[in-house]
Amino acid sequence: MSVAKMDENRKVTTHRLFEMKQRGEKISMLTAYDYSMAAIIDQAGMDVILVGDSASNVMAGNVTTLPITLDQMIYHGKSVMKAVKRSLVVVDLPFGTYQGNSKEALSSAIRVMKETHADCIKLEGGAEVKESIERILCAGIPIMGHLGLTPQSINKFGTYTVRAREEAEAEKLVRDAHLLEEIGCFAIVLEKIPAVLATRVARELTIPVIGIGAGGGVDGQVLVMHDMLGINKEFSPRFLRRYANLNEMITKAVQSYIADVKSRDFPNEKEQY
Ligand code: KIV
Repeated sequence: MSVAKMDENRKVTTHRLFEMKQRGEKISMLTAYDYSMAAIIDQAGMDVILVGDSASNVMAGNVTTLPITLDQMIYHGKSVMKAVKRSLVVVDLPFGTYQGNSKEALSSAIRVMKETHADCIKLEGGAEVKESIERILCAGIPIMGHLGLTPQSINKFGTYTVRAREEAEAEKLVRDAHLLEEIGCFAIVLEKIPAVLATRVARELTIPVIGIGAGGGVDGQVLVMHDMLGINKEFSPRFLRRYANLNEMITKAVQSYIADVKSRDFPNEKEQY
């Protein structure tokens, strides 16, 4: 096996992401919530799989990410981990499991790590959750931060529009990004902020900055799997590129099956015992 091939198959670690940033190699990240899709995404060569709390929307049908529980995130994390051999797996800490106090945050993070066997966790916020982050890091659990449009705070924002357009919010975001790096987060997600601001943060930080709706000047990109595969027809923000139209493909396949059952075409003689 060639050295390049061996490298492709090597497990992705937080340290490897850091090396990728240093050599200017972009990081690919996509969400997954179940065994079968995680297996496909891992084998396709994804660097990072995020078991996002967007599971609350795309798997459970909730309007926001707020209702999903720690038990539900652990269920999704376990399913994904059974499939993944190479990608780094990050599991989101859900709303209400780390903001209250650092002790609760640590016990939530420990449950995720012990029960799912994931590589690390992600949580939203900057200075407000500093103590929680420090305590989790003390236990040796790597943390990916998340700034900008943080969906767990949607009730405070009141809208899913672009964040940090105003100078005060932009400056706080830059301060928070530096803080997350200083206290030891291994990477940060920046969601739905101006590209110029995201590029500045990526240049100023040594840790990888992964964007969603944050332009091309960051160190990597993340999308929600259901959105980029076109499963979800309604959601079409400007930043989304659709790589498939699975909604249409699945609808056609299901309709063909219904028609074949009704017309007695399925099963035929070769499809029975
Ligand atoms: O939960 C999620 O899918 C996320 C991404 C949007 C980054 O946090």
